[in-house]
Amino acid sequence: MSRPKKPPRWLEAARVRDSGGDGEWLARALSRAGVLPQAEAEEAIRQRRVKLDSREVMEPMSPVGPKSRVTVDGHPVSLSWRTQVIMLHKPAGAVAHGSDKKATSTVFDTLRSALPPELVRFGWHSVGRLDRDTTGLLLFTNDERFVAHATAPATHLPKTYVARVGVKVTSEKLEPLRNGVLIDDGEVTRPAKAFPRGEDSVELVLTEGRFHQVKRMLNAVGLPTLALHREAVGELMLDVEVGTCRPLTDAEVREKLGYTPRS
Ligand code: URA
Repeated sequence: MSRPKKPPRWLEAARVRDSGGDGEWLARALSRAGVLPQAEAEEAIRQRRVKLDSREVMEPMSPVGPKSRVTVDGHPVSLSWRTQVIMLHKPAGAVAHGSDKKATSTVFDTLRSALPPELVRFGWHSVGRLDRDTTGLLLFTNDERFVAHATAPATHLPKTYVARVGVKVTSEKLEPLRNGVLIDDGEVTRPAKAFPRGEDSVELVLTEGRFHQVKRMLNAVGLPTLALHREAVGELMLDVEVGTCRPLTDAEVREKLGYTPRS
């Protein structure tokens, strides 16, 4: 009689996670708890520097649970974690990933050089994306559920942008944006708030985030986007200098972004 096949590691991990417990994969748990960024955690595991319940492990996706005892280089580490959210003022030129040849850096490079030392060992996820030339408020977190909350279409978390269009715009010209416009993927956008701002700019508040959405919406009403800046997400206004960041308080995450942080 053949022996029952052992389930693959990822499936075991998914079962632990879905069992309602606090289960997780080892490398991800280490990065979420701020012990080591994920790539470094994977490397440390492969180099046999990590022990799980006194046993050497070599598989970054080994399942861990709330009672797992983990050591790195012989030192006990805690996998307990709380939601962390960082506000970064993204400079122009930085991209979400390194494949863009015109990029000066990635947003993760900018974040790493701006973070205080006690936060550099976390694995950070960017909460949505901004185009290379877009500046402004970009959030990062160690909590994937927060990413899902902030980016899910169903949450309708408003994002406020200011676009320089180079001409004085009338409120009537923006009326189609308030009703929803057909953009070039054949979809109609959700109604947005749209106002003229200053001599040559437009303020747009969107509750969805499609690829190049602001640029495509302005294009649909005959306006170019000469520069684009995101100044708020939810009720959270950007309040740090370009290229710098700060952690949000739990109260800000709860009250301004509508998410109950794990604390
Ligand atoms: N819409 C855009 O067109 N670009 C951005 O970076 C963000 C929203």
